[in-house]
Amino acid sequence: CISSLEPSMSQAIRIGSHAKVLRSQLFPTTAPTTTTKINARHLSSIEHNPRWRASGVLDSYVAQPAHPISLRQLVFFGGRNLDEKKIINSANYVRTELPLRIAHRIRDMQKLPYVVVTNRHLSEVYELYYKAFESFRRIPEIKSLEDNEKFCEIVKTALQEHLTVIPSLAMGVLECNDLVPSHELDRFMNVILRSRISRRVIAEQHLALTDTFNSPFHFPDSVNHQPHDFVGEVFLRCNAREVVEQVGKHTLELAREANSSNSPIPEIQIEGHLDTTFPYIPSHLEYIIGELLRNSIQATIDHHTQLSTSTSSTTPIHLPPIKILICHTKEHIIFRVSDQGGGIPIAELPHLWSFAKGPRANNYLQNFSQVPKMAATLQELQKTAHTHSRRESMDTSLSRLTSRPPNLRLGMGLPMSRVYAEYWAGSLELHSLDGYGTDVFLQVSKLGNKCEQLNLDGV
Ligand code: COI
Repeated sequence: CISSLEPSMSQAIRIGSHAKVLRSQLFPTTAPTTTTKINARHLSSIEHNPRWRASGVLDSYVAQPAHPISLRQLVFFGGRNLDEKKIINSANYVRTELPLRIAHRIRDMQKLPYVVVTNRHLSEVYELYYKAFESFRRIPEIKSLEDNEKFCEIVKTALQEHLTVIPSLAMGVLECNDLVPSHELDRFMNVILRSRISRRVIAEQHLALTDTFNSPFHFPDSVNHQPHDFVGEVFLRCNAREVVEQVGKHTLELAREANSSNSPIPEIQIEGHLDTTFPYIPSHLEYIIGELLRNSIQATIDHHTQLSTSTSSTTPIHLPPIKILICHTKEHIIFRVSDQGGGIPIAELPHLWSFAKGPRANNYLQNFSQVPKMAATLQELQKTAHTHSRRESMDTSLSRLTSRPPNLRLGMGLPMSRVYAEYWAGSLELHSLDGYGTDVFLQVSKLGNKCEQLNLDGV
């Protein structure tokens, strides 16, 4: 059975076509380039690490499918009459589901060519995952609220420890992008990132439900006293216009900080079905809208400044607005973000959704000498800072995100936004009008009845 072999051997069997690449990377005839450098000490420490060997336990977890849930189910778990039994059920779901979901991703990493997983960033992620897998699978059934308190502490620590996962993965695939075809790395990234979102969603939802249960304002017998707008992390009446307005305000502030003080900043105009509300995890939507607006604002500033410079115009630069159209159908909310920022250069289009290729691959090494701790979303920031209530106004909470050091950008906002959109069965598409501007279409499910999409084939 291939899966019970050591990864180095099983990969040699599986990857056939990579064999040449592998051999030449392991025994290079010329000096390795910066991106393909292999640390010999590291390689040997991995080879001798028992975590890379056969693991019957891991096999038994990988043999089981995960159990995806929908937003509705998340709400139902913690909705009305949140009681001890529901909290304990929720804890046990997370306790059994986390090691299962992690096991699948560990196996994905074992299937990567050996030379890729020896990359220091990717092997750090592997070690983190293995540690979490071992820790969660050993937790006995949760039977009481005291057990749950201890469990929540373990979850909080894991959430904190895993804050380096996204930058490590991003840096790892960029460093390996000449070892493996980029479409394979991108597939790997899409699956591993979706899975990470999914684990953090179920873990954070459970912490939030436990908080609600422990809150002095929680009256189990009276539905009237519960703050019904949020069930855990899910905001039942997420308002499309409000999200765009709030995120837009803060993105414009960021743009003012990032550009020279006399640089004009475009206006954001919102139109369409402005009162649309739907259940969603706000931080996911904020992340996507924030990234789209940030791209549109910067493209508009850059394109029009360049036009004005090239014509040596002395008249003040006028920036066309960024227009957001919100439209709701029976099952979906669609956001169209239109800018006149000149479109995407044709050479960049093939790599637009890639984590492994594109302009970021060329300049990242200069900017990142060490792995930053990075909360991808507010939700992560809130849960790890422990200083923040999820019912704090979005205004205040967004300003916390803007306090991230500006160099925490890894240039993967667009592909990462699509991962967030597709996770809840939505979609993200981009149409570039060369020389004019860009239209991006974000579609999210309105009914909350779609399950998490853990695999790329939608199963
Ligand atoms: C992650 O953030 O990658 C996780 O898997 C978190 C989970 C262990 C709670």
